[in-house]
Amino acid sequence: AAPAKAGEKQVVVAAPRGYCAGVDRAVVTVEKALEAYGAPVYVRKQIVHNRHVVENLAARGAVFVEELDEVPPGSTVVFSAHGVSPAVKAEAVERGLQAIDATCPLVTKVHHEARRFAREDREILLIGHAGHEEVEGTMGEAPERTTLVQSPADVDTLEVQDPSRLAWLSQTTLSVDETLETVARLKERFPQLLDPPSDDICYATTNRQAAVKQIAAHSDLVIVVGSANSSNSVRLVEVALEAGATTAHRVDNAGEVDLAWLDGVTSVGVTSGASVPDDLVQGVLDLLVEQGFPVAREERLTEESLTFALPPELRRGLKRSV
Ligand code: F3S
Repeated sequence: AAPAKAGEKQVVVAAPRGYCAGVDRAVVTVEKALEAYGAPVYVRKQIVHNRHVVENLAARGAVFVEELDEVPPGSTVVFSAHGVSPAVKAEAVERGLQAIDATCPLVTKVHHEARRFAREDREILLIGHAGHEEVEGTMGEAPERTTLVQSPADVDTLEVQDPSRLAWLSQTTLSVDETLETVARLKERFPQLLDPPSDDICYATTNRQAAVKQIAAHSDLVIVVGSANSSNSVRLVEVALEAGATTAHRVDNAGEVDLAWLDGVTSVGVTSGASVPDDLVQGVLDLLVEQGFPVAREERLTEESLTFALPPELRRGLKRSV
């Protein structure tokens, strides 16, 4: 990056940022389901953790519910990008619902790993945050043999049944660095711990954290666009601070930027979580221009080209509807 001359204001926007392949697929799934089946289309939980995306889809006829007992029998229901436990899938069948599974394929991969470790009679240490929907879904694959590890500090008090039969997995949207620390501590205590076959933290999480690190070191202020319940967005604030940003804040949109944050600030970094449409970032960049900052320069760390096909059950429905 070409740093601005001393004292010269600058705004740098990180790339990659915003929508990942799994979020894009999940949002398009709800849009296409509305086209194919008409409103209402029920969605279990927020399809992705972004308030604006959810409000837009709700305005178009999506009905967001917490649990399947709120969905009338015979209706179409979409499972969110974060995944569901086998018990939820079974309940959908029992209730006669037409389910469309928008679980991100990279979350599904972790579910497969959990099932395989369970079949191998292993105890699974799942690194993740209690209460997050993805964690609930993954734990549901093998609830009786999965233990949640929420932080490096958790490792010391962990109780396991057989240290020789342990494997670890993780939520896809964690801090890369903190997870490495947790795994290192786990391996110190349990040297026979088995690794997952490939990284569980997804490419989008990894790339967005690496990109914000690159801009944070020379930012007085980093603004992360993303909702409060978005795990990967909240991690971006933490990563920015650890990487040297003087301050970092998360906002849902430009309206939440406190202008006092800009007092005495010369360089601003901006990024967004994986569930955030780019017009919300543009809103923040426009506000900065209004406040006397120059037009943002993008600092791109890497290109992303991954896309996922829509869920097969939806593709079949779309064929029938043409
Ligand atoms: Fe999937 Fe990662 Fe996005 S798990 S939904 S690609 S943040």
